[in-house]
Amino acid sequence: MALFEHIPTEVSVYEVSLRDGLQNERATVPLRGKLRLVDALVASGLRRIEITSFVSPKWIPQLADADEVAEHAKAPEAVTFSALCPNAQGLERARKAGIREIAVFISASETHNRKNVNKTIADTLAAFVETVIPAREAGMRVRGYVSTVWGCPYEGDVDPRRALEIARKLLEMGVYQVSLSDTIGVGTPRQTERILKMALAEFPARSLAMHMHDTRGTALANVLVGLAHDIRDFDASVGGMGGCPYAPGAAGNLATEDLVFMLHGMGVATGVDLERLWEAGKVAESIVGRPLPGKVHQAGVRSLKA
Ligand code: HMG
Ligand code: MG
Repeated sequence: MALFEHIPTEVSVYEVSLRDGLQNERATVPLRGKLRLVDALVASGLRRIEITSFVSPKWIPQLADADEVAEHAKAPEAVTFSALCPNAQGLERARKAGIREIAVFISASETHNRKNVNKTIADTLAAFVETVIPAREAGMRVRGYVSTVWGCPYEGDVDPRRALEIARKLLEMGVYQVSLSDTIGVGTPRQTERILKMALAEFPARSLAMHMHDTRGTALANVLVGLAHDIRDFDASVGGMGGCPYAPGAAGNLATEDLVFMLHGMGVATGVDLERLWEAGKVAESIVGRPLPGKVHQAGVRSLKA
């Protein structure tokens, strides 16, 4: 059996370091450092970059300068800058700052959702009428995250049907894509296959993305399962920066360099220049002031070909 006979020839990488990465750093990176990273990521050829988050600065002080980041970041024509948005206040800030795409978020497990946004799942879904609907009416694109699909730091196992029920509601509201998220990096390949088979029985592959934290080193293995199921959208964070401050142990998103290295090696195009991406990882490391965990980031991009 040829395992990879029918995988996509091209995938889209959605970069989250400036949001998922920086929200989890102890130190707050100054605005000019964030803008340097934006420029380096754009120069690498990434076309979808989540640049910040319009959440409460009391909850995530590291991203309190979201308005300035969005105002000063320069997106060339082909690049989409998006931002996380939890409520009407966040949407208003995003709109004022000229953001054209927002991302809303909700968890598949009640305890994580309450810790993350101080609401029940039902109330969070109901409150999306204040974000998803007006954003769509204002001509913005809206993406959605469903967190804790592979497991919850507080509740343990999560029934995938709960996650898919939420995904269905998001898509019905007009969200263009739901990023199924392994918030604490506990997913393993058979589990991923089970979740994706259930999801793909209901939704087209293009309406789904995968957001894998690499906490236990299984993110790429799960991405391979996604590829084999025709998933073409993967979230990643340069250098492997990241986490969720309201999910203990959610260290490290899948490193963008590791994802791109593997995809290119398999003949899957991303539009990203890996050398320049590696340089962006160096910028990321210098602005956060600590070594980053990504494998390619540490080993370099050199392949064995002469
Ligand atoms: P709350 O305290 O219940 O909200 O927080 P509130 O409406 O009662 O407001 C409290 C105060 O915050 C008020 O100020 C509001 O004005 C202010 P005060 O009157 O006390 O001075 N406020 C805001 N200020 C600026 N912008 C706003 C905003 N909203 C309220 N948008 C809230 C509710 C949702 C706001 C809060 O819980 C919050 O911001 N949570 C965000 C937590 C977060 O960012 N988590 C990490 C991102 S999710 C993630 O990482 C997972 C993901 O990567 C996928 C995965 O891996 O699973 C996406
Ligand atoms: Mg995350």
